[in-house]
Amino acid sequence: MKLFNTKILGTGSFLPDKILTNEDIAKRVETNDQWIIERTGIKARRVADLSKGENPSGMAQQATLRALEAANLTPNDIDCILFSSTLADQAMPNAASVLQFKLGITNNCPALDVNAACSGWVYLLPMADAMIKTGMYKHILVVGSEMLSSFNNWDDRNTCILFGDACGVAILGRSSETEDAKIYSTVLSSDSSKKDHLTLWAGGSNKRITKEVIDNDEQWMTMNGQEIFKAAVKTMASHCEKVVRDSGFTMSDVDWFIPHQANLRIIEGVGNRFNFPMEKVIINVDKYANTSSATVPVAFDEAIRDGRIKRGDNVLFAAFGAGLTAGAVFFKY
Ligand code: ACO
Repeated sequence: MKLFNTKILGTGSFLPDKILTNEDIAKRVETNDQWIIERTGIKARRVADLSKGENPSGMAQQATLRALEAANLTPNDIDCILFSSTLADQAMPNAASVLQFKLGITNNCPALDVNAACSGWVYLLPMADAMIKTGMYKHILVVGSEMLSSFNNWDDRNTCILFGDACGVAILGRSSETEDAKIYSTVLSSDSSKKDHLTLWAGGSNKRITKEVIDNDEQWMTMNGQEIFKAAVKTMASHCEKVVRDSGFTMSDVDWFIPHQANLRIIEGVGNRFNFPMEKVIINVDKYANTSSATVPVAFDEAIRDGRIKRGDNVLFAAFGAGLTAGAVFFKY
């Protein structure tokens, strides 16, 4: 069987216009700009506006139009949609199908939602890679689109400072015979022994959102920040080392590192584990906070568009999220 190498043909991102600064949050809960910057590196985050169509599928529509343009493709060239979201537009229909409709795709391509929390988009890359490699699909749209503002408790200072809304996408296709773009190695994992450290108990089948749930303030995300912090550093660092080693490279061969953007101290902690130079790390957590599975594709798209990441560069992605899921992908762009 002929196997193909996977190339990232185009990327796109969408950030809502509305900016919420640390000072804005400090008007609502007891916190301050200095504390938030020192502990997280976050200065601002974006908040989606439903009245402008800025839900997960709507943001994905805008990001995908940019990616299609970058890849020089049209909507009907997409033959598979993989959509990561922690809490998508609604339970049914799935956001990937809604996105197919919004993009005007009429080829009836498969459309699948996946939830692996913040790791979701990175989780989808090895799956898309396998589908491209075997020739199953030619142009796979991989979406990470998140509206955490809808389940972020704006009255809880422990969590509300950390999150924002955004979407990032990539279209994966085949490298031609003369190109060397390829995914070298990937790793995915989940440590369910820590599953209760980051949760959203209400809103699923176990607990519908009722008046009682709202009266008890149970409709929000809950988090054990310190446990997640420690696990994030350890797991992302070991996953990064594994994919680079499995590819036959060393860390000095990595041109750019894009870790999940949850907290600047987590990013520095991962980099320090393998003495990685910070100038080769793409960071935007200061501007957008943690946008869950959108962080890596948004940072990737920005770094391509501003000229930092170029064709031929070796790029390392790492992600981490509720579950506790984690993953890393090492590839030649
Ligand atoms: N402003 C001021 N004080 C605060 C705030 C705030 N926003 N939040 C907490 N505090 C207080 C606490 O109440 C505590 O006070 P106390 O000592 O009187 O009890 C003190 O600050 C220290 O709190 P810690 O929790 O020890 O602070 P820490 O340095 O651990 O930072 C943080 C907290 C930022 C949440 C950190 O643990 C973290 O970033 N963890 C990872 C969180 C994360 O990444 N979550 C998502 C990952 S997965 C995904 O992306 C979905």
